[in-house]
Amino acid sequence: MRVLIVGGGGREHAMAVSVAKSARRPEIVCAPGNAGTATVAENVDVAAEDIDGLLALVEERGVDLTLVGPEAPLCAGIVDRFEAAGRRVFGPNAKAARLEGDKTFCKKLLMESGVPTASGRCFDRYDHARQYLATRDTPQVVKAAGLAAGKGVVVCDDPADAILEAEAMMVEGRFGDAGRRIVVEEKLEGEELSVHAIVDGHSVYVLESSQDHKRVGDGDTGPNTGGMGAYSPAPIATDEVLREIESEILVPVLDALVRRDIHYRGVLYAGLMLTAGGPKVLEFNCRFGDPETQAMLPRMKTSLLDVAEACLDGRLDGLSLEWDPRPAVCVVMASGGYPGSYQRGITIGGLDAAAAIADAFVYHAGTTTLDGRVVTNGGRVLGVTALGDTIQAAQDRAYQAIDCIRFDGGFCRRDIGARALGVRPAKTVGPRVL
Ligand code: AMP
Ligand code: GLY
Repeated sequence: MRVLIVGGGGREHAMAVSVAKSARRPEIVCAPGNAGTATVAENVDVAAEDIDGLLALVEERGVDLTLVGPEAPLCAGIVDRFEAAGRRVFGPNAKAARLEGDKTFCKKLLMESGVPTASGRCFDRYDHARQYLATRDTPQVVKAAGLAAGKGVVVCDDPADAILEAEAMMVEGRFGDAGRRIVVEEKLEGEELSVHAIVDGHSVYVLESSQDHKRVGDGDTGPNTGGMGAYSPAPIATDEVLREIESEILVPVLDALVRRDIHYRGVLYAGLMLTAGGPKVLEFNCRFGDPETQAMLPRMKTSLLDVAEACLDGRLDGLSLEWDPRPAVCVVMASGGYPGSYQRGITIGGLDAAAAIADAFVYHAGTTTLDGRVVTNGGRVLGVTALGDTIQAAQDRAYQAIDCIRFDGGFCRRDIGARALGVRPAKTVGPRVL
């Protein structure tokens, strides 16, 4: 069996490793992949956004199943194109991917169906947004409606700043077309939590919880990044909280989509705030989180290939996922300067020593090979994950592995997982038929 994994980050390396452990012994192709995926798959230099190129690759290689990592091709309709060509592909179609690709669509759907979320409004005219914001006297969050590579959300403690942000997005075009329409919502207080579910149109299967660290600096300081680390499970996600998220959020959202004749299939990622009034939706993503996946998938004993096939065959309700009960911590090593500008092509040393540590895994993100050396090729370079009997043990081991690795300018946060220390993880959940 031949499997294509679309993308080239740490998430896709973790997906490839999980697919590779299937008893079906699949042959894996990654497009474009990185130096890490090259150890479990064949990398082919086709960009993740090049849907024509990817379809040609699938036809040329006789690929049986495609798994899509990033949101851009999903929102651009890779699933619709592949299905029209009779190709099996795991992920939501373009209409369903609007949950992530169009925050105004998502916000309206949540509010119309009474799903708990921050109260807010959608705007396509700046003068209307300004008028509304001028009447606010509490902190506001301004969100570009379209895809903005994780940068399109600004939390404004002073509502006057929100007017400036709305102007930058809607008038000055800071995020291009993605920011011409915006969502404005109240700032929520609480702990953040990521919950992933596999959805097949009939059932939803909630995966083990996780949490990422978005800010660049220790103690959650400095600018937002794509994610500087993650841990799984998130101890705040007790069984009761997960059940509430499933029945009050995931099931109603999927029902609301079905009422609009949209049938979601694939991974659904809910970014949530656990507020004093219960869990509320911050956002939905139409794919696995990065780096949450690098903390979650090493704990999933069942191969992602078997999960994806069960989903595509409508067999999720009969699936029973096996998890390693031990927690995992993933620490990201980034290039000096990230999330601003950074150099590429810097030699990375110590990878073998890190990988030799028991229960530690080095996932590559922004890496490539040059003259037989592994060199940096992006902002987030590696995600080093370790399992341990406790979060503390997993954290100690992840940093032991991280400390083997060296490259000029490379840095990481030293407090990944700290929020979870001293709190006991919950048990797992099973599939739920809609
Ligand atoms: P999003 O891409 O919508 O998840 O937003 C990115 C980050 O902005 C989230 O992970 C939160 O940290 C923060 N955020 C988004 N919406 C809100 C909100 N309503 N209240 C507080 N923080 C928020
Ligand atoms: N870690 C956040 C995301 O993947 O969107």
